[in-house]
Amino acid sequence: MNTDATQQEQPGGPAGGWWTEAVIYQIYPRSFADSDGDGMGDLPGITARLGHLTELGVDAVWLSPFYPSPQADAGYDVADYRDVDPLFGRLSDADALIAEARARGLRVIVDLVPNHTSSAHRWFRAALPAGPGSPERARYVFRDGLGPAGDQPPNDWQSVFGGPAWTRVTEPDGRPGQWYLHLFDTGQPDLNWDNPEVREEFLDVLRFWLDRGVDGFRVDVAHGLVKQADLTNWQEPQEILSGNDVAKPRPPMWDQDGVHEVYREWRRLVDSYPGERILVAEAWVEPAERLARYVRPDEMHQAFNFEHLLAAWTAPAQYAVVTRSLEATDAVGAPTTWVLSNHDVVRHASRLGLTTAGGRLNGIGIGDPQPDAAVGLRRARAASLLMLALPGSAYLYQGEELGLPEHTTLPDEARQDPTWERSGHTQRGRDGCRVPLPWEADAPSYGFGPTDASWLPQPPSWAEYALDRQRDVPGSTYEMYRAALRLRREHGLARGPLAWLSTGDEVLAFRNGGLTVLTNFGAAAVPAPTGELLCSSAPLDEDGRVPTDVTVWVRA
Ligand code: NOJ
Repeated sequence: MNTDATQQEQPGGPAGGWWTEAVIYQIYPRSFADSDGDGMGDLPGITARLGHLTELGVDAVWLSPFYPSPQADAGYDVADYRDVDPLFGRLSDADALIAEARARGLRVIVDLVPNHTSSAHRWFRAALPAGPGSPERARYVFRDGLGPAGDQPPNDWQSVFGGPAWTRVTEPDGRPGQWYLHLFDTGQPDLNWDNPEVREEFLDVLRFWLDRGVDGFRVDVAHGLVKQADLTNWQEPQEILSGNDVAKPRPPMWDQDGVHEVYREWRRLVDSYPGERILVAEAWVEPAERLARYVRPDEMHQAFNFEHLLAAWTAPAQYAVVTRSLEATDAVGAPTTWVLSNHDVVRHASRLGLTTAGGRLNGIGIGDPQPDAAVGLRRARAASLLMLALPGSAYLYQGEELGLPEHTTLPDEARQDPTWERSGHTQRGRDGCRVPLPWEADAPSYGFGPTDASWLPQPPSWAEYALDRQRDVPGSTYEMYRAALRLRREHGLARGPLAWLSTGDEVLAFRNGGLTVLTNFGAAAVPAPTGELLCSSAPLDEDGRVPTDVTVWVRA
């Protein structure tokens, strides 16, 4: 790594397409806004709060699942892909949300969950009585068990949430019978993507939502649909990442080449609709070159950049992930994406305040080492300002614009993520990042809904993060995000190109869109770039220098 100016230019991604520059805001419907006071967020609640998103200045929203579901995995267990769960409203509420978003100039991306259905889906309910060898079972991955009595699972695969990835069913005659595969919860049986009927069904689901006017799909577990045909054993602990060690064999359940044909077919379909509809891969695939295969010109438009989310808060790690990501996506002509938080990981305002690395699925709870809240927020603001200055498209997770931390002392009895039970209480799970948002400091449930009800308890400290305590308050996290999104647009930062000025062990600096962006990761304050300070993640020191864990945007 270089301590001098390198002036090395990096691409800004392809020109065109709204998605190449978009800031996309993730709404987690359970926790955004509750219109009816039952403690569960809903679609009318979202529609009523869309003004927040136009005020913030994002381009699009992505909605996590709102479909009918037993909620075994907070809606990622879909029982009907063409309707809305009564918890969240009705289909007409989805139509109203899409219409209102469009009227406000916001695009809408919905979540598609093709790797598995819910066990309450009509297909799975038909598969159980239909018995072994039936066409109904052929839509899923049913196998006989091993051993003389068939009482051992067909292979050694583990569920991402803990425990075996197979569950044995009772056959129509009442005897223990076959096993079905579920890479996640038992309530989420994996579909068989070798079956043409499955492929047809999902093309039809895509059409259903495209016809209703959505602008695209975030594709859940996009790297998991196709499994290695022999379902060979995998003597490794289960991880959702496909593994970046190219010397090791690829896990037989992730990132198989066969998935790409599915996305090529979907791309042809979305391209046949007017208005630039997009596909976004949730694919935990490393290295970046392998992930880039999902965004080749005839496949998806974007893939989440989890390598960015997982990168350590050091100058070398951030430099490496930015350069690698830009190069990998440029090689296939796709925009790079950036993401720091979502509904599956510890919020970055807390993650960056931890002294230990990691904290992806396992959460933080009472008795665990607690993050340093002040350090976490300071770094989170610096990381967000760094991210929003990079070429490409950025994803925000609801609440990060408030600097919201993880709920790290959620009582274990309140936990709802299946990870907590399935891991035998060894992994706390993801509830801490899913707590309902605080809108108004002095209102019941901080304005999440009209009552005190909240499906996960909100911590008492959250009044200070409420939107109404931050709006129009200079220096607040909310106003920092608003300013950054406005400046990002005005200066075309999403287009790049980016030219590195400093790639040292303590300071990163680059030029983009006529601005100089500098982040100080070191222990000592450093001189600010000369020019007009447009935005900064924390005040400069009394000598006008950039303190530790601060990002600045300066116009020369
Ligand atoms: C990824 C989703 O983001 C996560 O919340 C879910 O549990 C799994 N996929 C399974 O659908």
